[in-house]
Amino acid sequence: MKPLTIAIPKGRILKQLGPLLERAGLDTEVIYAEDRRLVREDPEGGVQYLLLKPDDVPTYVEYGAADLGVVGRDVLLEREYDLYAPVDLGIGRCRMMVAGLPDVPEPPRTLRVGTKYPNVAARHYRRSGRSVEIVFCQGSVELAPLTGLADRIVDIVESGETMRQNGLVELEHVCDVSSVLVANRAGLKLRRERIQPLLDALAGAVERAAAPAS
Ligand code: PRP
Repeated sequence: MKPLTIAIPKGRILKQLGPLLERAGLDTEVIYAEDRRLVREDPEGGVQYLLLKPDDVPTYVEYGAADLGVVGRDVLLEREYDLYAPVDLGIGRCRMMVAGLPDVPEPPRTLRVGTKYPNVAARHYRRSGRSVEIVFCQGSVELAPLTGLADRIVDIVESGETMRQNGLVELEHVCDVSSVLVANRAGLKLRRERIQPLLDALAGAVERAAAPAS
């Protein structure tokens, strides 16, 4: 039988994702092997994992190269994808914030905002009727206000350490972010008997993880 293909993001989320998938009955040991293989098959061959850059996960699922994927809501908010998103996994919790240097008033020209999320940032400012210039930065966005590239940034804050260590302060809350499970729409219909039990098991695992310990 064709294995179920799950696109997962490389990086820090794996520490939280592995145990959750395990609780849903999947064998995830292969995802931790320290080698360069981008396709990892579980020993029984029922599931294969694709290890991807987080931003690429929804593309693989939308085009059917993967049946399921795990992706941050930030990625889904930034670009439109035709995906089914049935389960909020409750992991990778963080917040999208506007930040900047402390005690710096808005400049007498159009505010420049550095971000990896131009659409989310533009929407945030549009909602309050403010017109800004968006400067796209791929990463290390915190550098933008420190160097004069931008007056503010819109970025993800998890522990707050990156902001703190770079002397920035959080100014406005844009939205909360967590990881969600996404599914290919056609794949879900065609392989429902294979995929639905996993969706149910994952929803159960998330619920148990959220329940207060008795
Ligand atoms: C993300 C984000 C912040 C940092 C926040 O960057 O863009 O820079 O994490 O985390 P913290 O609040 O726990 O310090 P990432 O590490 O993904 O790298 P990047 O800067 O290259 O995007």
